[in-house]
Amino acid sequence: MRYADWLPIIVTIAQEAGALLRQGWGAVTQITYKGEVNLVTEYDLRAEEIIVRALRQRFPQIAIYAEEQGGGDPTGWEQPTWLIDPLDGTTNFAHGFPAFAVSIALVAEGEPVLGVIYDPLLDETFAARRGGGATLNDRPIHVSAVPVLDKALLATGFAYDRRTRPDNNVGHFAHFLRRCQGMRRAGAAALDLAYVACGRLDGFWELRLHPWDVAAGILLVQEAGGRVTDLEGGPRYHSGEQIVASNGLIHEEMLAVFRLGDRPEDPLLDGGA
Ligand code: IPD
Ligand code: CA
Ligand code: CA
Repeated sequence: MRYADWLPIIVTIAQEAGALLRQGWGAVTQITYKGEVNLVTEYDLRAEEIIVRALRQRFPQIAIYAEEQGGGDPTGWEQPTWLIDPLDGTTNFAHGFPAFAVSIALVAEGEPVLGVIYDPLLDETFAARRGGGATLNDRPIHVSAVPVLDKALLATGFAYDRRTRPDNNVGHFAHFLRRCQGMRRAGAAALDLAYVACGRLDGFWELRLHPWDVAAGILLVQEAGGRVTDLEGGPRYHSGEQIVASNGLIHEEMLAVFRLGDRPEDPLLDGGA
């Protein structure tokens, strides 16, 4: 694969930004708001600066689309573009809750081709190249073998507009809660996807994420043998607007639950299926 040799460089850059986050964890002094509950700290900005500067220096020809500064429009993911979330899990970070990560992906020809997600507190590096498998700290990883939803550990999240939108995922959450073994909402979508890839989670879904949240994680899950779709089972998941990722085995069962809709009414409670 054309870009395969670049992966170690991206790993180093993600780890450099992660080292800054590790230092800053528990020491946040500046919080500003992008929306009612969508915050940004000085570390989001400083980590992004480290990544953008390093990528510009090494790969001046490649466009950059980073969460805090925007940049080249990644629509269709046809042109080679870096998609960067310098700090996924900002709310956790600002509260001192230990779940956050750096996520960097290269997309090209309609797909993510390189992806790195780095958790600085656990010093865990998830990395994947298209066609080359996925690794955690250089060891190959694979999705879980849990065969049914009833025995699955799932994760999800709730978008920043959850206070004002009726389709805020609370209905889906309630339906899954009654049908799976356990449910987590740890607050870092990139890590949720990395955990599906390495089998710690069996499935994940979320609404209204962004390309920088999902690009690296999509590749990790696919290269680890899992399946990624939109909520209807189709291919419109790149924007992050809708994404379902699983070990593949429970995917159809998950899609059937979405067909119940995002309202709390549940046929299980009415004695139905
Ligand atoms: C957020 C996290 C969270 C998800 C939000 C994302 P951020 O990213 O991934 O888990 O529920 O929708 O926006 O803002 O911390 O980079
Ligand atoms: Ca994010
Ligand atoms: Ca972020």
